[in-house]
Amino acid sequence: MKLKSERLIIPEVEWDDLNDIFILESQPEVDEYNTLGIPKNIHVTREHLRPFIEDRKAEVRKKYCWTIRLGTSKKFIGLAGMTLTADRFKMGEIWYNLMPQYWTRGYATEATKKLIRFGFECLKLHRIEAGVATGNIRSIKVLEKVGMTNEGIRRKILPIRGYWVDNYHFAILEDDPWD
Ligand SMILES: CC(C)(COP(=O)(O)OP(=O)(O)OC[C@H]1O[C@@H](n2cnc3c(N)ncnc32)[C@H](O)[C@@H]1OP(=O)(O)O)[C@@H](O)C(=O)NCCC(=O)NCCS
Repeated sequence: MKLKSERLIIPEVEWDDLNDIFILESQPEVDEYNTLGIPKNIHVTREHLRPFIEDRKAEVRKKYCWTIRLGTSKKFIGLAGMTLTADRFKMGEIWYNLMPQYWTRGYATEATKKLIRFGFECLKLHRIEAGVATGNIRSIKVLEKVGMTNEGIRRKILPIRGYWVDNYHFAILEDDPWD
């Protein structure tokens, strides 16, 4: 299940990606609005990764995780994922993290558009959601740029470094404009 865009390739994650993902999760800038926290060691990252790798063998897929790579060099620049709810809801939730040196070049927007297309075209979803801390301006911009709607605030729902943080709930429907 390899996705591709103009500048990026987005293959499903492999165990070989573990070290790159550990480095990504260890970046303080990436951790700023993340509830997982910085991993104490690579074994913590391995356990984050395990359910996604194991899901690849499942008869009915529920979890997807992709590395985001530059199309030219195949260099790892980030990670994205989608988790599906029970079948009858036809709904998935997406997320993404990029290495800071690759921020503000439109890569997250480009990758997220591909995730949305995959969700609606391949998985036949009805609705795709994303949550974002209210202070995470960059990610809010990404969600707006891909055509998601801010459906409101969920108060003090994110545990981030010892504080409860508010979250915006974004979603896009199969009938909304997306590309
Ligand atoms: C959120 C994240 C994935 C965005 O990646 P990205 O590749 O930089 O995103 P894009 O370049 O597609 O878009 C970012 C937008 O934010 C804007 N932006 C960047 N810094 C900004 C700032 N300080 N204030 C306002 N806007 C800002 C950019 O200008 C761009 O908008 P534009 O295209 O309208 O100019 C990246 O910052 C990241 O990995 N952050 C840490 C992890 C994270 O927060 N993940 C999301 C959890 S919900």
